[in-house]
Amino acid sequence: MSVNRAIIAGVGRCLPDYILTNDELEKYVDTNDEWIRSRTGISERRILKDPDKATSYLAEKAALEALEDAGVDASEIDAVILATVTPDYMFPATAALVQKRIGATKAFAFDLSAACSGFLYALTTGGNMIESGRAQKVLVIGADKMSAIVDYTDRTTCVIFGDGGGAVVLEAGDEGGIIDYVHHSEGDEACMLYQPAGGSVNPASSETVENRMHFLRQDGKSVFKRATEGMADVSLEIMERNNLTADDIAWLVPHQANLRIIDATARRMGLDKEKVMINISHYGNTTAATIPLCLYDWKEKLNYGDNLVLSAFGGGLTWGAVYLKWMKK
Ligand code: COA
Repeated sequence: MSVNRAIIAGVGRCLPDYILTNDELEKYVDTNDEWIRSRTGISERRILKDPDKATSYLAEKAALEALEDAGVDASEIDAVILATVTPDYMFPATAALVQKRIGATKAFAFDLSAACSGFLYALTTGGNMIESGRAQKVLVIGADKMSAIVDYTDRTTCVIFGDGGGAVVLEAGDEGGIIDYVHHSEGDEACMLYQPAGGSVNPASSETVENRMHFLRQDGKSVFKRATEGMADVSLEIMERNNLTADDIAWLVPHQANLRIIDATARRMGLDKEKVMINISHYGNTTAATIPLCLYDWKEKLNYGDNLVLSAFGGGLTWGAVYLKWMKK
């Protein structure tokens, strides 16, 4: 019996127009362009300024572009999976809002929460649906309006994050596509990177607002250490499981959290920098959107049959890697 393969048939993105530069951040917090660029690799990030637009806007635009790129009508989509930590509401799922707006009439839709690893978790969840034969076409989106939860008085976090959305259409194919994946989680480290209030532990109150508990908090040093180890370890794990050498890999598609983390991962994999997708300088860390934004920016350079390793680390803690063959002509 032939097994369905889950292939990427289309890629789309949405980036807000407003560019928040390092120079502008100097006006809000005690920081400077040299520190930000040398410690993170970031020069600027995009911000969704329009107060009427939320994560669903970024997701919707990215999804529509991915559908067009794939030549797929929204009505053909079986499922919409949206990875995000900045949903429009705690509930209903933002994916359901997007499903309605794009006209994916027969699809069921749900959000997936795995922070910066969210897109990879969503991609492989959609891939499994296709491989099982239960779905033929799945829309996988990673979108975050991080500016909604970033504290612009905290210099240790506000320089890092930006807003953006990316999406892919997964389709059943005969060969290639998602070949393998490895995911890991370690929930006892949740407070290393989290949003303290707004959930059922600390529901919204005047106290949570006064104490700025609705903003993201991060133990930057600890996350940096764990991310550097985790992303490199899981990338090597997927290479070893699939007998891949550095020569076999056309591109590393890393989550864009910090240029130093990306460099360390590529070094451990033995990959030349020319084979690493890096766009952190322009967008910062867009959480669930970084990996599809890379695929979008590099899509003209990707060749049929290219071996890609996608790798991410994020809050949870969560981390993972995907080995896929690019089958888009
Ligand atoms: N501008 C200027 N100085 C800053 C600063 C800023 N924006 N942020 C922190 N500093 C200062 C610190 O206060 C510290 O000063 P001190 O030595 O006087 O105490 C100094 O710079 C060094 O701070 P440190 O935290 O050691 O810097 P770092 O090199 O670890 O870089 C991060 C900080 C946040 C960039 C880095 O830890 C990081 O990238 N962490 C992972 C973040 C991440 O990936 N998060 C998403 C999940 S994947």
